Amino acid sequence: MTERSRRIEGSETETAQLLELGVAAACEAGQFLLASRPADLVIATKSTPTDVVTQMDTAAERLIAARIHAVRPDDAMLGEEGQSASASAGRRVRWIVDPIDGTVNYLYALPQWAVSIAAEVDGVVQVGVVFDASKDELFTAVRDQGAWRNGQPILVSACTELSQALVGTGFGYDAARRARQAEVVAGAIAFVRDIRRMGAASLDLCALACGRLDAYFERGLNLWDHAAAGLIAEEAGARVEGLDGSPPSGDFLVAATPAVFGPLHDLLAQLGADRD
Ligand code: IPD
Ligand code: CA
Repeated sequence: MTERSRRIEGSETETAQLLELGVAAACEAGQFLLASRPADLVIATKSTPTDVVTQMDTAAERLIAARIHAVRPDDAMLGEEGQSASASAGRRVRWIVDPIDGTVNYLYALPQWAVSIAAEVDGVVQVGVVFDASKDELFTAVRDQGAWRNGQPILVSACTELSQALVGTGFGYDAARRARQAEVVAGAIAFVRDIRRMGAASLDLCALACGRLDAYFERGLNLWDHAAAGLIAEEAGARVEGLDGSPPSGDFLVAATPAVFGPLHDLLAQLGADRD
């Protein structure tokens, strides 16, 4: 066996281990969140009075960190609730964790929230896992290998026309930003089939990945909102980018079927959707 094939085999083994561990942690956390949701959720606020965190967000993040670090104690971790922060300097693998994406839905007992876990190797997301416990749907992806829903391969829709596209989006927690985002929606709605705001960015991207949406865009996402599901959408055939060829980021993320991407991108750029 050559050195090159030994390296490829080693990285395939590691990727398989990251996927297995991410799936185990996401499923355990999702089942815990579903089965143990208390009637008296304790709410604290974060960036604004509507940006909430509950005791279940922090408990789920601790559970995920414990599961992952029990097997891979040296990996770095970035979690939305800061329960698992560990420095990434000098570490090859970093886990990016959103214990409950769609916290406001979880608070209101709306079944549209998910556990999102990505594994990044040398700065590139290689594995994405999103578990929708309420619907028992597990979305996974491995870079260059594909995307799956409950183990079955998924692909984006065949939508080619912006005017026929069902487009998901979301709003941030800051009032001024939300008002601006509503203006962008007002400017876009006449050019698309319709708009959906379902409340969990990771599930919006997974919906795009399996043809339940044709496109999605949002300004102001955090890395934990889109790291895992962005890879899932990409591996299912979507284009997932920022504006003007930049990578997706907190400034902007637009994702769509290949044919819808260009016209939607241009419309959003014209509407100044990446500005507050
Ligand atoms: C939020 C959801 C929402 C999106 C917000 C996110 P959280 O994440 O994904 O759909 O519009 O931008 O912050 O706060 O529920 O984890
Ligand atoms: Ca989130």
